[in-house]
Amino acid sequence: MKEHDILIIGAGLAGLRAAFEGVTAGLSTAVISKIHPLRSHSCAAQGGVNAAINPKDDWHDHAFDTVKGADYIGDQDSIDMMCEEAPQAVLDLDAMGCPFSREEDGTIAQRAFGGQNFPRTAYAADRTGHAMLHTLWEQAIKNGVFVYDEYYLLDITTSGTGKSKRASGCIAMDIKTGKLHQFNAKAVVIATGGFGRLFASNTNAMTCTGDGVAAAMRAGAPGADLEMVQFHPTGLRSTGILISEGVRGEGAYLIGKDGKRFMSKYAPNKLELASRDVVSRAEMTEIMNGNGVDGAVFLDVRHLGRDLILERLPQIRQLSIDFEGVDPIDEPIPVRPTCHYTMGGIRTDKYGQSISLKGLFAAGEAACVSVHGGNRLGANSLLETIVFGKITGKEVVRFTKEEGKERPHSSTKDLSAQQKRIATLKAQPKQGGKRQADIRESLTDAMNEDCSVFRDEPRLTKAMKAVLKAKKDIKKMYIDDKEDAFNTDLVTALELENLVLLGEATVKSALERKESRGAHTREEFPDRDDENWMVHITAHWDKDKEEVTLGRDPVRTVDNPKYAPQERKY
Ligand code: FUM
Repeated sequence: MKEHDILIIGAGLAGLRAAFEGVTAGLSTAVISKIHPLRSHSCAAQGGVNAAINPKDDWHDHAFDTVKGADYIGDQDSIDMMCEEAPQAVLDLDAMGCPFSREEDGTIAQRAFGGQNFPRTAYAADRTGHAMLHTLWEQAIKNGVFVYDEYYLLDITTSGTGKSKRASGCIAMDIKTGKLHQFNAKAVVIATGGFGRLFASNTNAMTCTGDGVAAAMRAGAPGADLEMVQFHPTGLRSTGILISEGVRGEGAYLIGKDGKRFMSKYAPNKLELASRDVVSRAEMTEIMNGNGVDGAVFLDVRHLGRDLILERLPQIRQLSIDFEGVDPIDEPIPVRPTCHYTMGGIRTDKYGQSISLKGLFAAGEAACVSVHGGNRLGANSLLETIVFGKITGKEVVRFTKEEGKERPHSSTKDLSAQQKRIATLKAQPKQGGKRQADIRESLTDAMNEDCSVFRDEPRLTKAMKAVLKAKKDIKKMYIDDKEDAFNTDLVTALELENLVLLGEATVKSALERKESRGAHTREEFPDRDDENWMVHITAHWDKDKEEVTLGRDPVRTVDNPKYAPQERKY
């Protein structure tokens, strides 16, 4: 048994920021990650991090933009806290040595991003997440965080029942050897990111399979807002690789097959810098109306000029050359809406504690704290990781020293159950079985096709059928590789079990929400319905029935008349 005070699962920005709080408070703090921390998906974030650090800006305006961007189901207490804390969170990183781009006068450079009324996105060229991740990794090493890299989370463990039920640690597999380990901790933080890999076309790393969210649900902590999936307007046509919104922030245009800009029809004021849900719908409409080429429209940066592109957008230029064969200095880049971010996650209070499982916390994309509601503003995700990594980290320290100071019991039965689970999976015969890669492909294709930017009941019902088929098929899933060491066949099969659970939760929630709000567009219910749907849909794993059931949780509001729902226009 490996014992720590604080166990953090996931070593991207949110996990490392929380770990910094734990270790600098003198607590034994460990992070578990299925890859090396520097390969975490946070490093793929390009465009920047929002914060009202310019003296002419005001965090209240940032909060208003965020409430509106979230289409009024973001929790206003969390949003206020995030926007107020944002400047200090960015300055913390700056003080730790994060190499942000600078203005001539030495201040941190900021660019415009979608859905906001001030250019408040601080950046490090177009590699902001990469720069921030390296900065926090240095801090983890310097301060003595215990790191278990290439450990795969199998399940979260709990002790006690009823009101005394509490997270007690986890069982994880050392991928290098295949050996299972039991971890015990006073508090467990899930920071495993989102589950964009549920969709065939996405901007996400292979690792984004929602392992922590699914494990938390199995342990009794509900998810929320799982129907709210963000499609980024500018994924590369053939691979879905991200082309940062920062490119539009620098002045790039979206054009159709006819070579003309089209955003004035959809967002007359903000044009290409409307919020992502609006721009993605606009692009899909143009493509469906025949103004695309091979399922894509174009991002035109030529007028920005070679020097600016090389200075501020070097990575997106290289990605366009490498993956699309197009040099943006000379030609427009083919782009299309691509799954980018899951607004939903483990339902928490504003300090990151699960609303129903004591001792379990979540931060970053894995959490539904909920600062993004129905639609996240670009550059608020890096912000969420560093603000709520910090706040949740501090709360975990407090919990660990106060009501959680008694170490919970970890039962070795949990370890045996996971050993049995792996043995059963490895023993599944090929004969009459289902290959994991085939199940995954059918599932992710169906989600892409039928639970996408535009949704309706017939398509969602089709998606549900595909999810239920995958759910049946994983009972007979076999893997070809039966070895212990570096068995990636086994890891992807285990990930698939999580994707199936989250697919069920996503589609069930999408069928349930009979309105259009944020990223969730139901064609048969084109309007937002504040009377009935200003709520979070929660998703619970029912162990006995082995299915996802739904509930509701009110949106947390604050007393601010500016946050009253209005028609959302850009
Ligand atoms: O477009 C981007 O650079 C992505 C940023 C984000 O998702 O926040």
